[in-house]
Amino acid sequence: MNSAETAGPVRIGLIVGSTRPGRRGTAVARWVGQVASRHDAVRGGGAVVEVVDLAEQGLPLLDEPVPAMFGDYRNAHTRHWSAVVDACDAFVFVTPEYNHSVPAAVKNGIDYLYAEWNDKVAGVLSYGVHGGTRAGDHLRQILAEVRAVVVPTGVSLSVFADFDFSGSDPGDPTAPGRIAPGDGREEALSTMLTEIVTWSRALRPAGAARAPAGVEV
Ligand SMILES: Cc1cc2nc3c(=O)[nH]c(=O)nc-3n(C[C@H](O)[C@H](O)[C@H](O)COP(=O)(O)O)c2cc1C
Repeated sequence: MNSAETAGPVRIGLIVGSTRPGRRGTAVARWVGQVASRHDAVRGGGAVVEVVDLAEQGLPLLDEPVPAMFGDYRNAHTRHWSAVVDACDAFVFVTPEYNHSVPAAVKNGIDYLYAEWNDKVAGVLSYGVHGGTRAGDHLRQILAEVRAVVVPTGVSLSVFADFDFSGSDPGDPTAPGRIAPGDGREEALSTMLTEIVTWSRALRPAGAARAPAGVEV
């Protein structure tokens, strides 16, 4: 299926990029979903948001023999992942920073596909000890390579400033804390969502013109 239809709500996939037990990513994604539900486009039916949790996709490290840009998928898990991504017009990537970059699961999930990302719109929400900005910057470079278009407004959350650890054992490295976004975070996310919806509508004709995912071009 070619996802880019010319009418209907903009379908935004909310990609949860961390997969480890006890991750903060699910709480961050939940907050994104809450802010999105208050956004005019979602309230008015112009956009829908669906969680795409990489931990639930069951993707092994890339095991396709043919590079994704040829669209010749041999494995059922790849075809399933292709359908999930192809069904979206746009994405919000919720990514932590791991060692100066995105988690391996994010890179792996992107590497699996190509046409499914083309002409799609993406917003980047990063988080980490220092806001995850280096992961966000890497992600923008990676998405450019698969011809996705990243909107200018991003969101950056600090594990220290935007999480509340009151009641947690300070010596416990597994304490997730509670998400408590600081001033301006919701406004930034809302602006990012507005840009995603606007740009997705503008790019739909480009998506409609491209070859369906999974077909050699
Ligand atoms: C393997 C690993 C590497 C990390 N590297 C960085 C880093 O380079 N910069 C940073 O700001 N935070 C780093 N952190 C902290 C994470 O960004 C932070 O713990 C975040 O909550 C991880 O997301 P998650 O809880 O969804 O897994 C790292 C955490 C892990 C587990």
